[in-house]
Amino acid sequence: MAKRHFVGVSLTSQIRRVQELLLARTGADEFYETIRLLVAKAFHERSRATAPLTFERAHILLTENSAEVMRFVEGVPSFSAPPDLVNECLRVLDPVKLNDIKFEALDAAFEEMTSRHYKSDKGQFFTPRHVIELCIDVLRPGKTDTVCDPACGSGAFLKAAYDYIGDSRARRLYGFEISPRASKIASLMSFLGCGDSLKIHTVDSLRVAGGTLFDGQAASIEHALADDRLAKAGFDVIATNPPFAGDVSTSEYVSNYEVANLSKTRVERDVLFIERCYQLLKPGGRMAIVLPDNKVSASKFAGLREWMIRKFEVVGVVSLHGYTFRPYTSQKASIVFARKRTGMEAGNDHMVNFYRSDKAGKTSSGEIVLADGSIDHDLDEIAQDFKREWVL
Ligand SMILES: C[S@@+](CC[C@H](N)C(=O)[O-])C[C@H]1O[C@@H](n2cnc3c(N)ncnc32)[C@H](O)[C@@H]1O
Repeated sequence: MAKRHFVGVSLTSQIRRVQELLLARTGADEFYETIRLLVAKAFHERSRATAPLTFERAHILLTENSAEVMRFVEGVPSFSAPPDLVNECLRVLDPVKLNDIKFEALDAAFEEMTSRHYKSDKGQFFTPRHVIELCIDVLRPGKTDTVCDPACGSGAFLKAAYDYIGDSRARRLYGFEISPRASKIASLMSFLGCGDSLKIHTVDSLRVAGGTLFDGQAASIEHALADDRLAKAGFDVIATNPPFAGDVSTSEYVSNYEVANLSKTRVERDVLFIERCYQLLKPGGRMAIVLPDNKVSASKFAGLREWMIRKFEVVGVVSLHGYTFRPYTSQKASIVFARKRTGMEAGNDHMVNFYRSDKAGKTSSGEIVLADGSIDHDLDEIAQDFKREWVL
């Protein structure tokens, strides 16, 4: 029986309660205030103190570690909410032990915190964790691989890679994210769940180096990696779910992206991300990218598929169930698994494996469907079959 997924809910409900308290009783930004509470709690647990955490101690911890805290919040390191409210929130969080918490629970809590600020019309939504685990399971990142997600959100693909590699010395996981809030959450995920080993950068990943660093726009990935010898050579593995929504003017990207020439006036962002992944991979590097279904099936994108086949060995496509991304989007999606060709290869001279998922683990309204206490999906079975076909 393939492994399935436990659904952690308790931290989520406590975070929800804390956010309700903060929203009801203070004008403070409940998102960053909740992060302050969690970070103070993490420092408190790490100091092995046994007494319950109170405002006074939490305030000292946040100010003593202000440089560290400012990696996760905006504004000031310590609380804006009054002491009695902070104490009430700390009491709600008291039963949680962050040091022992499981990824699913942490991640579900981050989803709760972020989704209020995420906008699905901007392509910002969470990838179900069983989809992420399928990608990582099939890509099989190794201890010496550099792994990247250029649209990393809360860092869940990277966290799954960190867990898969299973070696605390793994220090080769890179996340890039345009939204400062999401990127703070990814840094927090790294701090709480990945031994602080994720390298998270707030950048526009579609911006290719060439613009000046000080032109007022977000820096590029190339700028962020300027001093990183390991990553500059290109990544061994990319796992990503880029934004589906929103297209951009072709003219803006035409000089840096071949695929922009395939469209007349507008080009979809996920199309640009495919080429960005190509640029970021090493020759021979492998990729899993979640794409709207039309990229693998619509005649309109035949030219894009030809481009992909010239540039990549497309190894397999997993067609996801139509409910997979509900309630955020009803758009059907597929995962494309591919290997970047080395300069010597040409043409598509191999079989592409196609898989279809028939169990989303969700209802049409996006509610989780459980079987024996775990999410009822079929992606573990698909991963097993796929790995038999794709020998790395
Ligand atoms: C569909 S979400 C996936 C997030 C994450 N991988 C997950 O599964 O939870 C896409 C993410 O890409 C980010 N994004 C959109 N455009 C971007 C860009 N140009 N550069 C970097 N990140 C971008 C969004 O803010 C969002 O967090």
